[in-house]
Amino acid sequence: MCGIVGIVGRRSVAAQVTEALQRLEYRGYDSAGIATLENGRLERRRAEGKLVNLQLKLLQSPLSGAIGIGHTRWATHGRPNETNAHPHATERLAVVHNGIIENFRQLKAELQAHGIRFDTETDTEVVAQAVSYAMAQGLGPVEAVAATLPRLRGAFALGFLFAGESDLLIGARHGAPLAIGFGEGETYLGSDALALAPFTDAITYLEEGDWAILTREGAEIRDITGEVVTRPRQIIAAQSYRVDKGNHRYFMAKEIHEQPEVVGRTLAHYVDLAEDCVVLPVALPFDFAKLSRLTITACGTAYYAGLIAKYWFEKLARIPVEIDVASEARYREAPLDKDGVTLVISQSGETADTLASMRYAKAQGQHTIGIVNVATSTIAREASALLPTLAGVEIGVASTKAFSCQLTVLLCLAIAAGRARGTLSVVDERRLVDALITVPGLMAEALRQEQEIEQLAREIAKAKNVLYLGRGTAYPMALEGALKLKEISYIHAEGYAAGELKHGPIALIDETVPVIMIAPHDAVFEKTVSNMQEVAARGGRIILVTDAKAMALTEMETMATLTMPDLEPTIAPIVYAIPLQLLAYHTAVVMGKDVDQPRNLAKSVTVE
Ligand code: G6P
Repeated sequence: MCGIVGIVGRRSVAAQVTEALQRLEYRGYDSAGIATLENGRLERRRAEGKLVNLQLKLLQSPLSGAIGIGHTRWATHGRPNETNAHPHATERLAVVHNGIIENFRQLKAELQAHGIRFDTETDTEVVAQAVSYAMAQGLGPVEAVAATLPRLRGAFALGFLFAGESDLLIGARHGAPLAIGFGEGETYLGSDALALAPFTDAITYLEEGDWAILTREGAEIRDITGEVVTRPRQIIAAQSYRVDKGNHRYFMAKEIHEQPEVVGRTLAHYVDLAEDCVVLPVALPFDFAKLSRLTITACGTAYYAGLIAKYWFEKLARIPVEIDVASEARYREAPLDKDGVTLVISQSGETADTLASMRYAKAQGQHTIGIVNVATSTIAREASALLPTLAGVEIGVASTKAFSCQLTVLLCLAIAAGRARGTLSVVDERRLVDALITVPGLMAEALRQEQEIEQLAREIAKAKNVLYLGRGTAYPMALEGALKLKEISYIHAEGYAAGELKHGPIALIDETVPVIMIAPHDAVFEKTVSNMQEVAARGGRIILVTDAKAMALTEMETMATLTMPDLEPTIAPIVYAIPLQLLAYHTAVVMGKDVDQPRNLAKSVTVE
């Protein structure tokens, strides 16, 4: 996860920019850089590795400009060397960027056709060149950014500095967070309030799609349509910096909204974005091609991530998968092949049952792969191979961003397994990786349904029972959706395979029971529609979660519809997690529940 800093200051800002970058070190990075204006000219210093290398460069050749931008880079497109380090610049401007520009290849080809030469392997350089090109056509900096932003697809945040403009920075938020800080005759830009803590406690968080024009006087914020808007300014208490909620009421809300960014970061760790293929960060101590089956074990939300992965492994890698909740797996005395593989999924890496079933598998002579969010945890340390999820610290007890990152890693692993077993062609791998790259952007799009979901939550809050139905990977999604709702709102909710409806749960259906149909436009969509008809015929109130095209095909009366973006069906669970999480969250908020610490639940369950 890259870090962005910008300062329109009164005196030399290089030291302040590096200080702020230091506070963003926790996000992880492999190179760093800074650009300032020296007598109106752009000057950059960049260095591979830790910030100290950049600081050494600044000692050798100092920068004295009173306006600047800085960046810590977590490599996505291209190696973590100095050439690829940000800021990227043309003669006219320098830019820092966090996230992924999905359509960079297409934009690059267009710009190259205009004779523009590229120096780096990054997607970011496309932004620098595109804005620069717009300026070469006669646009001013603000107009050039305004013209370029709508052309960029993906989930990202940007910061711009322009040659000859000593009182202007531009920041833009589109799926990755960005905050503005207000000082005395100084204005700041940062990936979070923590970065700006040494300079100011007055912070405004940009909202999705916002972009801002910063001067020493302050900031003018515009929304996605270009309309000037006012966003609340908050005073951040010093002690709250470490565990900052941003402009969210609860950590869970913050964590739901962080997903485009952390999924992008996790993806960048598993996918070579330039080559369009999966590259696992560690060599696995076994060969997928030689396995006769795969065992998966986990608890709670992590278990549902495993259940979704079962569909992926079986379809893409043609490998049979056995999966059980860890509290059962550990005592079942299941026969496990020596040299076979058990996959263990856990956010905390400390869940007692998950740890015990991993140890059981080890004792049977199995290789264990830990898919874990806390890299220092027991499961992470004891697993034969660790595949980290890079969700960052998850505080809300109900897991959200760890879940979508688990799914991201699991799909990458299933693709790697398919390749190793010869069941997935290079073309199919590329198609799936291309789809994966779109996930952060699609998640940002799904988040835009929040207002509709908030309205719907008022209705759900009145229900005593809620049913979630789905087929294929939407079935475990239904289980996860129901778990989220019951965990934090205490409304009784059940997830079922839609095809099972007629074998029992249909008896529950009447006009008081909302039925949430999770129906991505996939191979089993028609079948799900038939199940919806069964619900409708019994007066059930349907809430349909699907995309616009599929919605048009159903012609059914629903209580509400939540429109998801068009997508490659394989990646649907990662994107569809968002409306399910938001629905549970807003229902609990409407009901006045303690969303982050629901009754009787613990974040890390270290007892049986
Ligand atoms: C607890 C949490 C759940 C989580 C489960 C497994 O029940 O409340 O959100 O899914 O434990 O935790 P783990 O850390 O192993 O993913």
